[in-house]
Amino acid sequence: MPDLPLTGEFNALAFRRHFPLLHGNDLIYLDSAATKQKPAEVIEAVEKFYSTYNANVHRGIYKLADEATDAYENSRDTVRAFINARSSREIIFTRGSTESINLVAQSYVAARLQNGTNIVISEMEHHSNLIPWQQLAKKSGAELRVIPINDNGDLILEEGLGLIDKRTTIIALVHTSNSLGTINPINVFIEKARKSKSTILIDAAQAMAHQSIDVQALDCDFLVFSAHKMFGPTGVGVLYGKQELLEEMPPYQYGGEMIESVSLESSTFRLPPHRFEAGTPNIAGVIGLASSIHFLDTWKPDKLGSHSKILAEIAVELLQSIGVRLIGTPVRRAGIVSFLLDDIHPHDVATLLDQEGIAVRAGHHCTEPVMRYYEIPGTLRLSFSAYNTREEVEQVAKALPRIRKILG
Ligand code: ALA
Repeated sequence: MPDLPLTGEFNALAFRRHFPLLHGNDLIYLDSAATKQKPAEVIEAVEKFYSTYNANVHRGIYKLADEATDAYENSRDTVRAFINARSSREIIFTRGSTESINLVAQSYVAARLQNGTNIVISEMEHHSNLIPWQQLAKKSGAELRVIPINDNGDLILEEGLGLIDKRTTIIALVHTSNSLGTINPINVFIEKARKSKSTILIDAAQAMAHQSIDVQALDCDFLVFSAHKMFGPTGVGVLYGKQELLEEMPPYQYGGEMIESVSLESSTFRLPPHRFEAGTPNIAGVIGLASSIHFLDTWKPDKLGSHSKILAEIAVELLQSIGVRLIGTPVRRAGIVSFLLDDIHPHDVATLLDQEGIAVRAGHHCTEPVMRYYEIPGTLRLSFSAYNTREEVEQVAKALPRIRKILG
């Protein structure tokens, strides 16, 4: 066994006790990049809403509805404080990062594109931060420019920065790659965006539970994230946008609760954020998201992220000692490690790991261009959270040689 780093002072077992699905269970859950397990606090907040103050928001003139509306709007302020937005008007609740990106694409960017303008993304984007831009570019005649990656799975900075110019309408960049684990130097791109007077959107889906994010310090224009990747419920996410930009944007969907007045001939719309929240929102999800933020505030995202990162470092050392092919050896890695076991298909390895009670993701991870770059069908991916332990990583390292004997 190589000389491995210690997992520091973080008490993963104490953290794990908050998660009913994991506590007292031998499951080795290493798919936290897909979705995180939920702590009892979040489950209870959602249950409490449904069992004690369930009502629709912004509509009722009775106590129960007031209570639900207050909880919903307080959650907006919880999100505001968590990312240090200037105003809760800058926080829009969506179905998740995917919808947040589509909202910006349709409502802000589409009308600003034409022949001669360009959109800048990177080669490591999740499909959700690629396809909306690719389709807009096709429709408008704008150019889709792609920041390339190198063999380590890092962005090629000089080339990437060179793609951004005065005709760049939007830069849409992932903070932390879900398939490579790369933490990108987003500050450098935000700085460049400011110089070229471009708008910049940061996909922070994989970052929020692993490090603190301050949108004012970052000075990004838009930031998107999903609750379920930060210990909250599925089906709810956030679009942060600078108020002056949101105010320029037309509604993305039409329906109830986003209007000021309606006649058969015409309608006027509320100010952001409500302009962008047509229909009954995911009230329980939003309340659950606020609860996950209180949970994160208690444990501190930076501490959770650093534990996950240490586990990833241990995994890298152990995997290297087994002789796997690592896919991505970035300069700054989050708690995500992708690899291949010889030329065995990742799905086959994942199936056998599952038989040993180890849940990992195998496939292209919704980043097919990354797989094309490495000329592989997919990877095996270990993605860690703070409820994982060094012993669990060691279990994977012990299982792989057995699997190699069976499948190799
Ligand atoms: N984007 C999520 C993942 O990487 C679903 O698994």
